[in-house]
Amino acid sequence: MKLQIESSSPEQVSVDALAFICFEKEAAETAPEAARQGGWLQEIRDSGEFSGKLYEFSVLHRPRNLAAKRLVIIGGGSRDKFTSVEARRAAGVLVRSLRAKGIRTLALFLENATPDLACAIAEGAVLGEWESDKHKTDPKKAEKKLEAFTLVAPEALSEAFERGRIIGEAQNVTRELVNEPANLLSPAQLADAARQTAAKYALGCEVLDQDAMAKLGMGCLLGVAQGSDNPPFLIVLKYQPTQPASSDHLALVGKGVTFDTGGNSIKTSEGMERMKYDMAGAGAVIAAMGAIAQLKPDVTVTGFVPTVENMLSGRAMRPGDIVTSMAGKTVEVLNTDAEGRLILADAITYAKREGVTHMVDAATLTGAIGIALGHHNIGAFTNDEEFLARFIKATKIAGEKTWQLPMDEEYKDYLKSAFADLPNVGGRYGGSITAAWFLREFADPTPWVHLDIAATAWLDDGKAWLSKGPSGVGVRSFVQLALDWLA
Ligand code: BES
Ligand code: ZN
Ligand code: ZN
Repeated sequence: MKLQIESSSPEQVSVDALAFICFEKEAAETAPEAARQGGWLQEIRDSGEFSGKLYEFSVLHRPRNLAAKRLVIIGGGSRDKFTSVEARRAAGVLVRSLRAKGIRTLALFLENATPDLACAIAEGAVLGEWESDKHKTDPKKAEKKLEAFTLVAPEALSEAFERGRIIGEAQNVTRELVNEPANLLSPAQLADAARQTAAKYALGCEVLDQDAMAKLGMGCLLGVAQGSDNPPFLIVLKYQPTQPASSDHLALVGKGVTFDTGGNSIKTSEGMERMKYDMAGAGAVIAAMGAIAQLKPDVTVTGFVPTVENMLSGRAMRPGDIVTSMAGKTVEVLNTDAEGRLILADAITYAKREGVTHMVDAATLTGAIGIALGHHNIGAFTNDEEFLARFIKATKIAGEKTWQLPMDEEYKDYLKSAFADLPNVGGRYGGSITAAWFLREFADPTPWVHLDIAATAWLDDGKAWLSKGPSGVGVRSFVQLALDWLA
C-alpha cells in the first residue's frame, strides 16, 4: 500500500472512496466544502444509519461535485475526546472495512490536522492493512489489498505522515516476525532477520554465538539453550547518530525465546502453540531499531536480543540445576519455564558492559501480568522513577497503554534460594513482580524500565482497526522514547 499526502482540495481527489470524520451532534462542518450542502447528512442522521458514534460509518455513492467515486463518513465520537488514539484507529477501521468492499484507493480528508494526527493516521492505515495470512495460499489475497491511502491535508504535514508510515511499518515487521511459527523462525533465523534489518538501514550488527557467550560466562542463557538442537545467539544492533546530543546510551533489550515448551517444567499442551510469540520483545526491538535508523534521533541506541529455544531433551536443564550468570551470581533453576528472566539477566549484564546508561527491556515474561492487568496495559517496572516517567510520556504520545507495578524491597524477599544466590522463581504470589525483581538484581544500578508484554503482545480477538494475532506492542513507544530523548 502506497501512502501519500495530497494538498489539493478534497473535491479534486480522484479515488475510489474519500472519507471524512464526522463528530457526534455536529452537522456536516467537517465534510469537504462541496458536500456540505443539501441536507443529506441530516437525512442519514434522521434515518438512524449514522450518529457520529466512534468508528461507525456510512458510504454514499457518486457524491455530487466530487471527483471521488464514493464519500464515506466515519464517526469521530465526541469532538473534545478525539485524539491521535482515535485518529489512528479510525484510519485502521477505514482501511480494513473498505478494502473488503472492492475499494483500492482510499483518501481521508482532515481539516485542521496536526502533525500528531497525521502521524497517527499513517500508523493506523499501515497497521490496519496487516493480516496474519502469510502462510495462507488464497489466490485472491492480493485483490483484497489497498493500492493507496492518501491523507488530504497540507504538504507541511508530510514529515509527520512519513514518520507514521515508518513506525507503522516497523510495527508490522514485528507482527510478521512474531507470527512466524517456530519451525520457520529459529534463533538463527531471527538473527538473520536482524542482519537483514541492519543491512537495509545501515545499522551496526554483531551476533554472538554459543562459543562467544561461553567465553563471557553467560551460564544462565546457555543453560536455557542447552535442551535445544537449535543453537542460541545474542544479537546486537547498533545505531549511532552523526552528532549525539549527549553521552547517553540507550539500550533496548528484547526477550527472544522462539519457542517456549517450558522445558522439563513442561507447559500443558493446551495453547502451547501460542508460545511461538515468546519472542515478541525481540521482534519489537529489532523492528524499532530499523525505524530508529531511518528516523535518526540524536541519541545512541543499541538493541540487545538474547535468543534461544526452550526445549526438552536429554540435555535440557533440570529443576534444581544451579547455573552461574555472566554477572557472577549463581541461580538455582527451580522452574525451567521461568527461562525469560535467565536469558535477559545475561543480556542485561552484557549491555551494561557495553557502557549503556539507560535500559528498557520488553519481554513476554509472565502469565501473571494478564491476571493483574488483563490485556489492555503493558506492565511496567523500574528502579528509577524519573526514567519511567520519561518513558511513560513517550508511551502516551505513541498511544500504548502502560501501568506501573510496585517494586517495594519487601517483594525481593520472595526470591530466596537455599543453595544459590538467587532462585529463578518466587512463590505463588506477585509473580510478575518477583520476575521483575530477578531482572533488577542484574540491572541495578543502571536506570532501567522493564515491560512485561505477555498479555499485550497477542490479540485473541481482532478489532475493527487491527487484525487478531500479534500486536507489535512496544515498537511505537521505543521509537518515541528515542525521538524525544532530550525533550
Ligand atoms: N513465556 C512465558 C510467559 C507467558 C505466559 C507469555 C503466557 C505469554 C503468555 C514464561 O516463560 C513463563 O512460562 N513464565 C511462567 C513463570 C512461572 C514459572 C514462575 C508463567 O508465567 O507461568
Ligand atoms: Zn517459560
Ligand atoms: Zn517464556
